[in-house]
Amino acid sequence: MQLTTLTLTSLLAALAAAAPGTPVQERQATPTVYARFYPDAGCHGDWVDDTVFAQSQTGCYNNGITSPYNSTFFSGNTLTCTLRIYSLPNCPVNQGNYFDLQPGVDNCFAQKVGSAQFINC
Ligand SMILES: *[C@@H]1O[C@H](CO)[C@@H](O)[C@H](O)[C@H]1NC(C)=O
Repeated sequence: MQLTTLTLTSLLAALAAAAPGTPVQERQATPTVYARFYPDAGCHGDWVDDTVFAQSQTGCYNNGITSPYNSTFFSGNTLTCTLRIYSLPNCPVNQGNYFDLQPGVDNCFAQKVGSAQFINC
């Protein structure tokens, strides 16, 4: 009996230590995707800068990265909307290129990230 009590106490202590709760609450509050910028075209080598796109952003969001880069790796994608990423600033419809980062997709894209906007929300 004494052993059972001790085991239960240890188990509860271990659960409390392993489940601080904060990261889960943050993920549920605002879907995000993390972006790292690389000098080469294939997301290799040392990244030069990084940013986070949070789904709480509405409208067009200009990327402030000024370091030279040629590719972007997106990871930790918890988005529920598609992130449309434009090569130029101000999300222009008829200039430059864009690609769509789908919810849950972590991947390397060989394109400038001038601006971005959430669509299909
Ligand atoms: C990006 O690619 C261009 C064209 O290949 C190259 O000239 C430039 O040096 C690259 N930028 C960086 C930071 O490596």
